[in-house]
Amino acid sequence: YPIHESHSHLSSLSVDAQSLQKQIDELSTFSDTPAPSVTRILYSEKDVLARRFIKNLMGLSGLSVREDAVGNIFGRWEGSNPELSAVATGSHIDAIPYSGKYDGVVGVLGAIEAINVLIRSGFKPKRSLEVIMFTSEEPTRFGISCLGSRLMAGIEALVEALKTTVDGQNISFLDASHSAGYTKDHNDVSSVFLKKGSYSAFVELHIEQGPILEEEGIPIGIVTAIAAPASIRVEFQGNGGHAGAVLMPNRNDAGLAAAELALAVERHVLESGSIDTVGTVGILELHPGAINSIPSKSHLEIDTRDIDEERRNIVIEKIHQSAISIATKRGVSLSEFKIINQDPPALSEKSILDAMEASSKELDLTQKLMISRAYHDSLFMARISPMGMIFIPCYRGYSHKPEEYSSIQDISNGVKVLALTLAKLSLQ
Ligand code: GLV
Ligand code: MN
Ligand code: MN
Ligand code: MN
Repeated sequence: YPIHESHSHLSSLSVDAQSLQKQIDELSTFSDTPAPSVTRILYSEKDVLARRFIKNLMGLSGLSVREDAVGNIFGRWEGSNPELSAVATGSHIDAIPYSGKYDGVVGVLGAIEAINVLIRSGFKPKRSLEVIMFTSEEPTRFGISCLGSRLMAGIEALVEALKTTVDGQNISFLDASHSAGYTKDHNDVSSVFLKKGSYSAFVELHIEQGPILEEEGIPIGIVTAIAAPASIRVEFQGNGGHAGAVLMPNRNDAGLAAAELALAVERHVLESGSIDTVGTVGILELHPGAINSIPSKSHLEIDTRDIDEERRNIVIEKIHQSAISIATKRGVSLSEFKIINQDPPALSEKSILDAMEASSKELDLTQKLMISRAYHDSLFMARISPMGMIFIPCYRGYSHKPEEYSSIQDISNGVKVLALTLAKLSLQ
């Protein structure tokens, strides 16, 4: 097999930076909030249009496109030995409310461009190469992160949960999926499962979402591990009542219970003593939400993560104990304390680290080993495939806000490293 010939072509990898930037800009217009912010929620009209845009680009690159029952999209470039398990790459294009246009997108459009780069170089893959666009990496609509990749990893409990999962408007997951052109039949959901070994490698390109690469002037981050995420949904119920008439000693204010718990989350996280422990209350809702009505119900959603799973679990347990004692003290009921997900961390695979490191070296790009504090579909792909991630710098580490930015130069470097890594893995 002409490995050496292939590699000589690969020394002249050229990214079409102008087209890639244009695609990133165009994709960002499929948004429910005004530019520069991007909001693209699972199975919304804008999400469906964005999916069409991605499938069209995959087709233009000559990939054969397939979609599964929940809308994970696969674009395949058949290798010379299609019986071998394929090498996959990809990310997500859904965007949380008022976020930016690079999170996930760089790993989808960049993956399609990496394929174009390899095609232009004359490379012939041995293992097939696949670009994956994952359904709903973000938990916005149904509260479940990495929905598509969790299902690919074969998590039975999620199939069960999705039968009864509804969004904030009480629309069921299956109705929403159906309205976007995917399944309505929950029996179909488990068809998304992939067998372990379906892929020989999975590599995801992503913006760092942290400040290190930019600060240190390093173009490529090689991810060795992804921190362990968890999320919890909490509800307190009190009596409510008139804000003027009910005197302070007679109240059971569910809103104040929520406020106390939010502060307890911060305290428990800080008590861990490690800078790697983080916790956030990103959702806090009061019912009925009127200035002159004592909150009768409150709803919090808590995100906590750590690179050390044990330490994160201790934080979760402390949050639970605090929720119980706050409820008792305030005479409200803790009507829900539900751990939505409590995932272990994931480690990158040595063989993929080696391929990524060799690739950046051959391209004369300096690199740094780092951990990912954000989660990614790679966290779940790691359960069924050897996994690795390539990070590129982003402006001040900004992410999950409209100011998110990566230069096309940095993106192009990432695409080149991805292309060369895929080429190497495809020949292994
Ligand atoms: C998802 O984007 C996360 O890491 O929060
Ligand atoms: Mn994100
Ligand atoms: Mn992302
Ligand atoms: Mn993420």
